[in-house]
Amino acid sequence: MNILTVVGARPQFIKAAPVSRALRARHREVLVHTGQHYDAGMSDIFFAELGIPQPDINLGIGSGSHGQQTGRMVMAIEEVLLAERPDWTLVYGDTNSTLAGALAAVKLGIPVAHVEAGLRSFNRAMPEEHNRVLTDHCADLLFCPTATAVELLAAEGLTTGVHLVGDVMVDALRQHADLARQRSEVLVRLGLRPQGYCLATVHRPYNTDVPENLRSILAALGDIHQQTGRPAVLPLHPRTRGRLEALALTPPAGVLLIDPVGYLDMLALEQAAALILTDSGGVQKEAYTFAVPCITLRPETEWVETVQAGWNVVVGADRGAIVQAATQRRWPEGPPPLLFGDGQAAGRIVAALEGAHASAG
Ligand code: UD1
Ligand code: UDP
Repeated sequence: MNILTVVGARPQFIKAAPVSRALRARHREVLVHTGQHYDAGMSDIFFAELGIPQPDINLGIGSGSHGQQTGRMVMAIEEVLLAERPDWTLVYGDTNSTLAGALAAVKLGIPVAHVEAGLRSFNRAMPEEHNRVLTDHCADLLFCPTATAVELLAAEGLTTGVHLVGDVMVDALRQHADLARQRSEVLVRLGLRPQGYCLATVHRPYNTDVPENLRSILAALGDIHQQTGRPAVLPLHPRTRGRLEALALTPPAGVLLIDPVGYLDMLALEQAAALILTDSGGVQKEAYTFAVPCITLRPETEWVETVQAGWNVVVGADRGAIVQAATQRRWPEGPPPLLFGDGQAAGRIVAALEGAHASAG
C-alpha cells in the first residue's frame, strides 16, 4: 500500500510519529511537510526527538492569511498527489495543512483518511472548527480518538468508515514519557522544583489576538505566583511572542517566558507541574494523561471528557476566574480513567487502512 501523509504544524509531527513508524513496517509512506511551521524549535526538533523520517518533500509554504496559506498548500499538494498517485492520503488534526491535504486529495478522487476525526468545539469563530468539519466530510476513513467523537460524526450523518481507535497522542506520550524523565534537564536548567511551578501555553487567536485576554492571562499567572509562591513557565509559541512584542507587554514577577521547547522537555515540564494552564488541545490531553490538573484558557473545549472527569476546568481568559480555579478548586485524586485509549491507536489505524485497501482492491 502507498500512503501519502500530509503534516505541517507542531502537533501533527507528534501525532504522525507513532503512525508513521507502524505504517513503514509494512508499507510505503511519502511524508509531505507543508512548511506551515518552519522555525527549528517548531519543526526540526520534533523530527529529531521523535525519530520521524525526514520529510520526503517540504513544500515551504510558510505563514500567510488563511486563504493564501491554504490555497498555496492545495496547489502544491495537488502536484505531489498527481506525481505519486497514492492509495490513501493521510491527514491529522485540524490545521490549514489538514484541510489542504484533504481538499487536494478528494478533488483528485484519492481516498482520504483523517486521524483525530469527530472533534467539535461548535465555535465557528475558530479556524480549526472549519478545518475539522470540512476534512471529516471529505474523508473516507475517519479515525476517532473517543466515543464522543464517533457520536458527533453520527449526528452529522457520518457513519461509514468511522473507527474508534483511541488517541495517537497517547501513543506518542507513552513511547516518550520515560525517555523525557531520563533525558530532559529542563527543570534544572530553569531552576524549577517538581510540583513547585505552573506550566502555561497560549497560542489561540482568541487569546493572542485579543489584547485584553493576553494581558488578563499574564496578570492571572502573576497573581497565582503571589498567592501560592509557584512561578509559571510559559514556552512561547512564535505567534504569542509576536503579539507580546507588538503590544510591548512584559510579564509580571514570577512568570518566566521561554522559547518553545522540544517534545521531551515539554513532557518533562508537564509531568512535574503542579498545575497546567493552556489553550492547547494536545496539552489538555497530556495534562489529563499525566494526572495534572488543567485550567483551559478558552470558552469551550473539544476534550469534554477531561472536564467531565473533573481534571480540567474551562475558564476562558478572565483574570479572576483563572486565579480562583488555580487557588480554590479541589481536584480529583488518583490515576484518572483511560479516556483516550491504551496507547495502541497507531496499530489500529494501520489495520483499518489495510482492511479498507483490501476490500477496495
Ligand atoms: C496552527 C494551527 C492551530 C494549531 C497550531 C499548533 C491553523 C489555522 N492553526 O496555529 O490549529 O493549534 O498551529 O501550534 O492551521 N510562526 C513563526 N514560525 C513558525 C510558525 C509560525 O514565526 O515556525 C508565526 C508566524 O507569524 C505565523 C504565526 O506564527 O503567522 C501563526 O502561525 P500559523 O501556522 O498560521 O498558525 P498557528 O497559530 O501556529
Ligand atoms: N509542545 C511542545 N513544546 C512546546 C509546546 C507544546 O512540544 O513548547 C507539544 C505539546 O506537548 C503537545 C503539542 O505540542 O504534544 C501541542 O501542540 P500545540 O499546543 O501547538 O497545538 P494544539 O494541540 O493546540 O493544536
